[in-house]
Amino acid sequence: MSLTQTTPMIAPSILSADFSHLGLALQSLEDAKADWIHIDVMDGHFVPNLTFGPPVIKALRAKTTLPFDVHLMIEKPELWIEAYREAGADGITVHAEACVHLHRTLGQIKESGAWVGVSLNPHTPLSAIEEVLSEVDLILIMSVNPGFGGQSFIPNTLDKIKRLTELCKARHVQPIIQVDGGVKVSNIKSIAQAGAHAFVAGSAVFKSNDVNQAVAELRKQASMSNHSV
Ligand code: DX5
Ligand code: ZN
Repeated sequence: MSLTQTTPMIAPSILSADFSHLGLALQSLEDAKADWIHIDVMDGHFVPNLTFGPPVIKALRAKTTLPFDVHLMIEKPELWIEAYREAGADGITVHAEACVHLHRTLGQIKESGAWVGVSLNPHTPLSAIEEVLSEVDLILIMSVNPGFGGQSFIPNTLDKIKRLTELCKARHVQPIIQVDGGVKVSNIKSIAQAGAHAFVAGSAVFKSNDVNQAVAELRKQASMSNHSV
């Protein structure tokens, strides 16, 4: 699956949904016209939390046609690419910090047919992915330390997104820049303004009173940015 920088893409994270009704959560996101379903996979090692494995994703795959944007917060992701792809992932994002042979792992994702994503934790400099910029479809900038929903957006992420936007321009590459963590109606415009195209939102969607309205409002605010791609 290939990606283009159509802005903005709203990707609600089901990490903040009611886990006893995940099928209904997907239905509500389809009704709300979300672009992607963001699925946060955690292994209790790379991050101090545990979530979904391939069987859960496979079960959810039957419930919606929306693309599954799978964010692997796991050690040794290279051992799991095929399993998540077979379970129904349309895009697979791995953390640069978790990959000893990042270039090889990104090639493995491409080979699987999924869109290729790489993520950076808040403390990881952009230089960690400079040599693989042309290998990826999506760069996920973490704006919280991964592991939990409901944390506050780390302010200097805005500057990091701006620097990444400049770097991509200078290198003549056009990956989707995605931002994850603490994205809200109140800050999404400035995140878009910094250069982001895709926005993960967990609590802003599922802790709101109205999923439809939350997705629509996020999209509206993000669209008000005059950042041009
Ligand atoms: C954090 C996850 C996020 C999380 C975002 O480790 O990667 O996707 O669900 O949640 P909010 O939007 O509540 O910060
Ligand atoms: Zn995520």
